[in-house]
Parts: sequence; structure tokens; C-alpha cells
Amino acid sequence: MGKLVINGGNKIQGEMTVSGAKNSVLPILAATVLNGKVNVIHDIPQLSDVKVMTKILRAVGCEVKREGNTMIVDSSQLNNHKIPEELIREMRSSIVVLGAMLGRCGETVVSYPGGCEIGPRPIDLHLKSLREMGAIIEEKHGFLICKSENLKGCEIQLDFPSVGATENVMLAATLAKGITIIRNAAREPEIADLQNFINAIGGKVSGAGSATIRIEGVKELQEVEHTIIPDRIVAGTYLVAAAITKGDITLKNVIPEHLQSTLYKLREAGCRILYTHDTIKLEAPQNLQAIEALKTHPYPGFPTDMQSQMMALMTLSDGISIITENIFENRYKHAYELLRMGANIKIDGRVAIIKGVENLTGATVSANDLRGGAALILAGLAAKGTTIVENAKHIERGYDDIAGMLNSVGADIIKF
Ligand code: EPZ
Repeated sequence: MGKLVINGGNKIQGEMTVSGAKNSVLPILAATVLNGKVNVIHDIPQLSDVKVMTKILRAVGCEVKREGNTMIVDSSQLNNHKIPEELIREMRSSIVVLGAMLGRCGETVVSYPGGCEIGPRPIDLHLKSLREMGAIIEEKHGFLICKSENLKGCEIQLDFPSVGATENVMLAATLAKGITIIRNAAREPEIADLQNFINAIGGKVSGAGSATIRIEGVKELQEVEHTIIPDRIVAGTYLVAAAITKGDITLKNVIPEHLQSTLYKLREAGCRILYTHDTIKLEAPQNLQAIEALKTHPYPGFPTDMQSQMMALMTLSDGISIITENIFENRYKHAYELLRMGANIKIDGRVAIIKGVENLTGATVSANDLRGGAALILAGLAAKGTTIVENAKHIERGYDDIAGMLNSVGADIIKF
């Protein structure tokens, strides 16, 4: 399961280069199934989630090679439409392969992804939308048996701007007959990166970043070379590492526009922030200010994936901060671990009330999910004494060598 031992008290100071975005890499790797050609993709981080997606691509017949942070995926010889159950269950976001497989092969069998640590993670919006496009999806014995003679473009209204459902429809619609309109679409930057990838292989997608996305089905797709956008959540996490240790950091390879809601809240906490088109510099205040209201919302609202990191920061601020988690039903498990480090947090349903304390003390804590685990590392950086973060494998799903990266700017973390 792996663990990290963190000796707290060091300032995080220096420069870091941000890796490619996990939540962009995964749907784009799924999209490589569509063109039946060679796809060269740059700036892919070394993450366990990427390893799982690589296994899925190989399972359906793709040839996948990795050269450093570049991956070459040749999807010309697909030979299997059944996705191994253990792979879907290992990473629920692999459900986005569904739309790509239906688009390319017209059939697929995937296991129901099931929930995870942060909530039930239903896929009703995915299935409802794909059925509206003409897919026949049978749910049997925990599997989704999906067939689509020919997917037809149609007008889809998402009840919630689901990132995964938006991506699945974009992928299924790329080779469908006619025009698909997605209304109330997710507006995350990763959706725009997927649109750019699909257009680069010859698709016709427009509107990503807005609530309405238009996809005109095409017949033929081509090979591509594409570079993944920087990871706005990894960037935000490293900014908090500097803020919580009274340090200062300069991030390179970032798109500040993608983090505006996070930067806004870090300023509210007293941080001094300057940015150019591809760098962000943060200087921590001597005393962190409490944040009266931090509410997670779909992009461009405050990202749920930064909620736990900001909670860790608020445990050491002056005053009372209130967090409302509006996206996932069960995304406060990290709070109970922070209590073990001396934090003062009360959870009431979707609301967390954090009263700042003088300092945290090192303890043995357990990572229950990816971003909650990252929050425990951040708390350990600032805590007095040694913190042991267990189940660190959760964190490796979304952070490329987080210990090495933080040690390069002053942290003292040993990986076991
Ligand atoms: C993506 O998950 C991200 N994962 C998540 O990041 C992120 O937290 C989430 O979007 C929200 O921004 C990837 O991109 C791989 P949703 P996804 O569909 O697509 C409900 C991380 O830490 N919903 O936008 O699963 C759902 O239950 C991960 O990097 C339905 O009800 O998120 C949730 O409450 C965690 N029915 C809300 O919508 C559906 O059919 C948001 O889900 C689909 C979703």
C-alpha cells in the first residue's frame, strides 16, 4: 500500500514544473481508440491511473509505447471489445472508454464502475445520453452490454454538468451520423483539451468551455500529435504546500486562467500571488487568514478536487472557515485524519467548520482517496514532528512523484 514519512517544519521554497493533467490524459487516451491510427501524445505524467488506462487500451488491441512522458498509441488493430472487469473497477473514470468504443466498434462490454471513497459515483447521465443517441445498453450481472448499429446525433440536455458524461457523449458523437448538441455540458479545461484532441484527429467539435457543445459526426479520422494541458489541481496543491509552510514558490508550465477560483481563495487566505501567461508565483503570509465561505461548484466555480487541500490550509488559519462540498456526497474523510493531527474541524453533512489552531502535530494518518491523501501530506509538511501517511498508493493515482517534487523545494519526505 506504501507510506510516506514526513518530517514537518521546513518551508517549501523554489521552482516547480507542473506535469500534464491526469483528468485530461485519461479521456484523451480513451479517444485514441477512435481514429484507428497512430497517436503521439506528449506530457503524460507517470501515474497509476495512466497505467490502468494503458492496460485497457492494450486489452482492446491497441499498441501502446511509452518514451519518457510521451506515449504512442496505435489503435489500428482493435481485436476485443470487452474491457476486463478488474480494470474498470480499479479506476471508475475508465467508464469514458464506453463512448469511444461505441463510436469506433459499435459495441463494448464494461463492468459497472461502482462507487469509490468520495461517493456513489453513478453513471445514469452517461447511460441516458448514450441511449438517446441510439445505443442499446443492457445492465446484467454488474455488466453493461452495449451495442449501437449506428449512433445518431441528437440534442442532449444533461441534468448536471457531469465531466465524464460530457466526455462520453463527445467521444460517441465524433463518428456518429449527424449533429449532437450537449446542453448543460461540463465547462472544465479538460473538456476543451479533449475537444482540441478530437479536432486534431479530424473531428468537428465546438463550444467546449461553454455550456453548449456541438459535435458534427465525421466518417474518417487521422493520426495526431498532441500535448496535454498542465494539471491545474497538481498546480493548486503545490501552491498550498508553499502557503501552509509560510514559504514561496514559482510554478512553471501552468495556465493561470485554469486556476482563477483557487488563486482567488489563496489570496483571501492572505497569500501574495503574481502570474504571467505560463507561471504563477505565490508568497505565503506570516499568518493565514480564515476563509468565511468556500463552496465547491462545477468549473469555473471552486473545484471539488482542491477542497481537501484548502481544508488542510484552513486548519492553521486565524479564525473560522466554512467549507461546503456541493459536488460529492462523501468527500470529508480526510477531516477525521486531520483531527488526529490536532486540527479543530466539525463536519455537518456537506458543511465543514474549521477553527484554526496554533499548530498541527505529526501523527500516523491514512489516505482514503487521492486528494484527501494529498491534503494529509500538506498538513504533514506544516506539522511539528513526524507524520506517517499510510495507503499512499491512493496519492500516486494523481501525483507524479509528489515526494520527490516536494523534496526538491525543501520538504523532508521519505517514501516506503
Ligand atoms: C471528474 O469525475 C474528475 N475525474 C474528478 O476528479 C472530479 O472531481 C469531477 O470530474 C468533478 O469535477 C476525472 O476527470 C477522471 P462528474 P466525474 O461526472 O466525471 C454526479 C480527481 O480527484 N453524477 O462531473 O466522475 C456525481 O455523482 C477526481 O482527480 C451523477 O449523478 O465527475 C457527482 O456527484 C475525483 N450521474 C457529480 O455528478 C452521472 O451519470 C460530478 O460528477 C455522473 C455524475
